[in-house]
Amino acid sequence: MSNLKKYFSSTKRIIPTIYSVTTILIILFSFLFNFTLIQLLAAILFFAILDFLLILFIGKNRNDELITIKNVIEKIRTNSFQSADEIKLGNDLKELEDEIKSMFLRTQNDITNLKRLEQVRTEFLGNVSHELRTPIFAIQGYIETLLDGAINDENVNKSFLQKADQHTINLNNLLNDLINISMMESGQMLMSFRYFNVHEFLEGIIHELRPNAAKKNLELNLVQFEHKLQLYGDKQRLRQVMINLIQNAIKYTETGAVEVGVMENEKTGKVFVRDTGIGISGADVDRIFERFYRVDKDRSREMGGTGLGLAIVKHIVEAHGSKIEVVSTSGKGSEFSFHLKK
Ligand SMILES: Nc1ncnc2c1ncn2[C@@H]1O[C@H](COP(=O)(O)OP(=O)(O)OP(=O)(O)O)[C@@H](O)[C@H]1O
Ligand SMILES: [Mg+2]
Repeated sequence: MSNLKKYFSSTKRIIPTIYSVTTILIILFSFLFNFTLIQLLAAILFFAILDFLLILFIGKNRNDELITIKNVIEKIRTNSFQSADEIKLGNDLKELEDEIKSMFLRTQNDITNLKRLEQVRTEFLGNVSHELRTPIFAIQGYIETLLDGAINDENVNKSFLQKADQHTINLNNLLNDLINISMMESGQMLMSFRYFNVHEFLEGIIHELRPNAAKKNLELNLVQFEHKLQLYGDKQRLRQVMINLIQNAIKYTETGAVEVGVMENEKTGKVFVRDTGIGISGADVDRIFERFYRVDKDRSREMGGTGLGLAIVKHIVEAHGSKIEVVSTSGKGSEFSFHLKK
């Protein structure tokens, strides 16, 4: 914008400059050639006409330039330019042209971002409605069947109620995940950072989740490390991270073991969860942290998954100033890790 200002202020200064130069010239000539009164009046008339023509010429030029600028602005307003290269103001207005071009590019960028956000929002709403509909329809189905008479059928009544109950649990989990995500994304998640004993912390979580692993005949082990190690973070939120990662490792592993541990570095502790499961292909690794993204939608949903787990994990880890990393080989297993400050 500073160039614009320069441009207009120089235009405004031209007329007084012409008048000043003319006055100086007349005074100079009248002294040099010792003008008589008539000669002086003739000189004044001559310069007045010259100035008038000059101002007329400059005015016309400026007017043409302003019309060009106005046309360019009008075209930007009506979105008629496809690219910045189409904006042309001529050599005299090169600086202004560059300024308008960069303004145009910035605006285009903003518009692209807004369109992308709008698309993400629409997709998100579509996903949410779809995910809500699944358990609600299932619950409705079981209840209707029970009301239609199945309630008296000893063979199915209890299992239908259990299934409906499982879907209400899924629904509740989904709503909690959504509330979590929206709080994190709107910056309302309050974090409480403290040093905590990471060995005790992980042991507790593993103890809680071991029965889940045992159901699939998987081992769930804590790889040994310094018992006194203290790391810095929000224990409550990190608990959510570890539960998500360990539950995933169990969910997507059929044989072998899930290992959890910490590798101590000079300034950080690298917390990891490894499994010997199905692994994730290169193309999917980049997408698993997106909300609702699941490599195998049906398989994940069957297990009560909505694809929000890793999106939450990513948010929490990033709120710790860290980054979640994945190393995975299809068919061999995966390792998820992140660093915490010592
Ligand atoms: N340890 C893992 N091994 C193989 N694939 C994994 C692993 N962890 C995650 N994935 C893949 O990444 C996808 C996204 O994981 P995420 O935790 O976000 O969702 P989910 O487990 O399907 O559902 P949710 O966690 O919401 O219950 C999963 O559906 C799965 O395809
Ligand atoms: Mg998960």
